[in-house]
Amino acid sequence: MNDPLRLTVLGTGYLGTTHAACMASLGFDVLGVDTDARKVDQLNAGQLPIYEPGLRELHSGLGSGRLAFTTSYPQAAAFGDVHFICAGTPPQPGSHHADLSQVHGCIAALAPLLDRRCLVAGKSTVPVGTARRLAAELAEACRGVELAWNPEFLRESSAVADALTPDRIVAGVMSPWAEEVLRQVYARSIAADLACELVNGDLAEVPVCVLGAAFKPGSDDVRDSPALDVAQILHGMGARVTVYDPAALANARGACPELGYAATPTEAAREAHVVLLLTEWPEFAELTPGDLGTVVEHRNIVDGRNVLDPTLWRAAGWNFRSLGAAPAASLSTRFGGGRSAKDRGEVGSL
Ligand SMILES: NC(=O)c1ccc[n+]([C@@H]2O[C@H](COP(=O)([O-])OP(=O)(O)OC[C@H]3O[C@@H](n4cnc5c(N)ncnc54)[C@H](O)[C@@H]3O)[C@@H](O)[C@H]2O)c1
Repeated sequence: MNDPLRLTVLGTGYLGTTHAACMASLGFDVLGVDTDARKVDQLNAGQLPIYEPGLRELHSGLGSGRLAFTTSYPQAAAFGDVHFICAGTPPQPGSHHADLSQVHGCIAALAPLLDRRCLVAGKSTVPVGTARRLAAELAEACRGVELAWNPEFLRESSAVADALTPDRIVAGVMSPWAEEVLRQVYARSIAADLACELVNGDLAEVPVCVLGAAFKPGSDDVRDSPALDVAQILHGMGARVTVYDPAALANARGACPELGYAATPTEAAREAHVVLLLTEWPEFAELTPGDLGTVVEHRNIVDGRNVLDPTLWRAAGWNFRSLGAAPAASLSTRFGGGRSAKDRGEVGSL
C-alpha cells in the first residue's frame, strides 16, 4: 500500500466525478475510470459533464496532477490501493429492481488484474445482500483483496459540501484492516468537519489555530501533508487559519502563502475559536489545557492525532473532539464526532 493511499474511482458519472474531485482536493492521488471514452476525454480536458455548485472550481484547481481519468482497467489495477465503485444502478426496464450490471462490470474488469493487497469499496446504491455476494466473488478471484461497502449519501446541488464535510459516513467491512484503510481515507474530511461542528457550522472569518504542518513529526517535509490539506480546506471555507509547526514553517509558508503563520503554539492559538492538532509532534502531546486556555477565544479543540488526554482537557472546560480510535476487536464503532449529537460515522460488518 502507498502512503498516502492512491485511490481509483470506477464510474465517473454524477457521484464518481464529485467523489474523485473531492478526494483529490483533500490531497489524494486519484484516477477516475469510465467505460465511456468520450466522457474520459472530456474530464481530462477539464470539462465537466455535470453541473454541480463548487465542482468546477475544485476540478479546475487540480492542475497539481492529483486527478486523472482513463478507460484502462490495467492502469487502474496497477495504480490503486483503494478502488471505489461508483457505477450506476438504474432501475431495470419495467421494474423497480436495480440493474446491477454496471457494478458487476466493474468487479469483472478489475478482479482478474489485482495482484497485491488492496480494498475495493462500493459506494453505489445496491440491494441488501449484494455486497456479501460480491465479497465472496472477489475473495475467490484474488487473494489479499477485500470488499467493503461504503454507501454514499451526497445530494445533488450540495454534493461538494456533502462529500468534503459529510454528515455521516457508513461502512460495512470484513476486517479491522479494511476499517483502518477507510479511516485513513476519510480522516481528512472528518478533522475539517469536526471544526465546523464546534463553531456551529459556519467558519466564515472564524480564527482557527492549526498545530502541525509537516506530514509527520520529526520532519520539515510538507509534501502530501494531511495537516496542510486540512488547513487549506478550512481556509477555503472562509476561516482565518494560523499554523504553527516546530520545523516545517518555512516550507509550509512556501507551499501555502495564503495561510497565516505563528512562531509559537500560543501565538497561533491567540483568539482562536477552535484549535486543531494535526501532526503528532511530541511538544504538542505535552501541551496542557492551561497553556492554550488563556489565549483562545473559545475552548474548542480537535485532536486529529489522538495524542491528548480527553479527560484532562474536558475537565478544564474544553469542548474536546477526536477522530475516535477504534477498539481493535470491534467492527461496530464510530468514525468520529458529528454535526449533531448523533453518531456520524459507523462501521459494521458486511
Ligand atoms: N447521483 C447522486 O446524487 C447519488 C447520490 C448517492 C448515491 N448515488 C448512487 O451512486 C451510483 C452512481 O450514481 P450516478 O448518479 O453517479 O450514476 P451515473 O449514471 O451518473 O454514472 C455512472 C457512470 O458509470 C460508468 N460505468 C458504467 N459501467 C462501468 C464500468 N464497468 N466501469 C467503469 N465505469 C462504468 C458510466 O459510463 C457512467 O459514467 C448509483 O448507485 C446511485 O444510486 C447517486
